[in-house]
Amino acid sequence: MEMRKLTIDNYGELIELWSKARLPFKPKGRDSKKAITAQMKANPEFFLGAFANNHLVGVAILSCDMRKGWINRLAVDPTYRRLGIAKALIAESEKILRRYGVKIFCSLIEDYNVASKNLFKKCGYVEHRDIIYFSKRDSDEI
Ligand SMILES: CC(C)(COP(=O)(O)OP(=O)(O)OC[C@H]1O[C@@H](n2cnc3c(N)ncnc32)[C@H](O)[C@@H]1OP(=O)(O)O)[C@@H](O)C(=O)NCCC(=O)NCCS
Repeated sequence: MEMRKLTIDNYGELIELWSKARLPFKPKGRDSKKAITAQMKANPEFFLGAFANNHLVGVAILSCDMRKGWINRLAVDPTYRRLGIAKALIAESEKILRRYGVKIFCSLIEDYNVASKNLFKKCGYVEHRDIIYFSKRDSDEI
């Protein structure tokens, strides 16, 4: 398994992987090709891919506001699960974010997602049961 940053040439594979992993994404909003192109241009290091035989099998998208670093849209191809790929993606994500001065690493996880909750716990993340996520959106597609 090789880990490297994604380029816009990987966009098709990225969408395919999220679909295979049944991870909700926003093809008309922040995950459109146009939006991802702009995000990659601004932060080329923040799109991390895990490859097996040059085939994309895992992904994590990072974001950082200088106060905290976020691990978003983490997904692993169902055929390649329980091999430690997500764990390795998280470790590499933290390494990248540390270079931006980040010392707090976060992820938003839906309550039903036992696999993801276990994964982050295993990686040393603490669950905050007392926090409820609020957001305001210009549209549901964004
Ligand atoms: C969650 C997900 C990314 C895990 O990927 P993975 O590469 O299989 O995870 P890893 O092999 O690195 O697992 C590390 C640890 O996480 C936990 N874990 C992973 N999958 C699990 C599962 N299905 N059930 C329970 N615990 C799980 C285990 O503790 C595991 O360690 P172990 O295999 O030694 O028991 C993957 O299942 C996935 O893509 N799910 C769909 C998309 C998704 O929900 N993404 C997260 C959004 S927040």
